Amino acid sequence: MKPGKFITFEGIDGAGKSSHIAGIAGFLRARGLTVVPTREPGGTPLGEKLREWLLRETMHLETEALLMFAARREHLAQVIEPALARGEWVVCDRFSDATYAYQGGGRGLDKTRFAQLEQWVHGHLQPDLTLLFDLSPEVAGRRIAAQTRALDRFEQERADFHRRVRLAYLERAAEAPQRIAVIDADQPLEHIKRLLETTVVTRCL
Ligand code: TMP
Repeated sequence: MKPGKFITFEGIDGAGKSSHIAGIAGFLRARGLTVVPTREPGGTPLGEKLREWLLRETMHLETEALLMFAARREHLAQVIEPALARGEWVVCDRFSDATYAYQGGGRGLDKTRFAQLEQWVHGHLQPDLTLLFDLSPEVAGRRIAAQTRALDRFEQERADFHRRVRLAYLERAAEAPQRIAVIDADQPLEHIKRLLETTVVTRCL
């Protein structure tokens, strides 16, 4: 059995990654692969309950970071690790890079704590490929402002918060260029789609 691969999508709110996840899942399925699309925070019944709290409730900043990792532990145990063990491909909307970017860059928490939690929760496992959608917070902010639904706690943050999140993501990408591919998200959808497919083929297939 060929081992499954673990692909994550990242980027600031409004960068447009979510609309491409189904596209990549379909692209991989067309090659005969079994794909498990999932997301964080969430991906399990408990994780989805934690997601509701994380996106709506005011809480201590360290509680927020710890709940992200708690939801992740459950997600790894219930969904990600079993799927990879069956040889399936996991395509996940956000993972630990988001904690470094949002709770580290955005909220200003000490990133060395995340390194300890990361080691505890998934020291044995990192994504095979991370597709980082990079976009200026101004463009992303205009996309978010055009939404008609109620915005969550992170989407409601000011542009300065999203600027710090973006910088933290780019720092992560500079530290792990072999894993993280930076995708210019300020391009037509078709260009991005083709770029994603080429990146997945060259790095994972
Ligand atoms: P989504 O809108 O991409 O589904 O993600 C939900 C929000 O959760 C998004 O604003 C980023 C935030 N988030 C964190 O702050 N830390 C994390 O570790 C994760 C996974 C998400």
